[in-house]
Amino acid sequence: MLGLKLPTDPRWANIAEKNIDEILIDHAHCEQKAASTAISLIVSFPEYTELVTEMIALVKEEISHFKLVHDRLIAKGIPLGRDRKDEYVVQLVTFFPKGGSRTDQLVHRLLYAALIEARSCERFRLLSEHLEDAELAKFYRDLMVSEANHYTLFLNFARQYGNRVQVDEKWKKLLDYEALLMRNLGTKESIHG
Ligand SMILES: [Fe+2]
Ligand SMILES: [Fe+2]
Repeated sequence: MLGLKLPTDPRWANIAEKNIDEILIDHAHCEQKAASTAISLIVSFPEYTELVTEMIALVKEEISHFKLVHDRLIAKGIPLGRDRKDEYVVQLVTFFPKGGSRTDQLVHRLLYAALIEARSCERFRLLSEHLEDAELAKFYRDLMVSEANHYTLFLNFARQYGNRVQVDEKWKKLLDYEALLMRNLGTKESIHG
């Protein structure tokens, strides 16, 4: 349903469980960045009223996710600490050429966001199925549902604002590229690593 071409290496869930504090820190940063992305879309594309309306709601939801994860860190006595580079995202967002029309730029950003949500959703599902801590597993199951909705939201906006046929073609190519990236990932104690 997420369209992903390559599933995460199943060993990743073990690595994540053994390093759950690192995962929570990285996850908190992912939620904070998801909220930032929504704000950034509002700043860059204010004339797209429906997008702005949905991004306002998304900022609230993602920042509430950030709070949930941050509260868990506080309870464990772990400071959030500085963000580290998300190599997955850094590589992913090089796929489409820079420039192009304003619509192209919007579509590309929406497709990147859709894919990051889809992969995050897959990772949360793995955590929800694998973690022995039942309460934490439930936490990830709930988040998985949210991220699946965000994936749909971004992909639908890309199809709505761009040329449907071209957008679907771009989405297919981006999924193929992401699968290539994923071959070298799934080995680190981070949400997308
Ligand atoms: Fe989120
Ligand atoms: Fe999200």
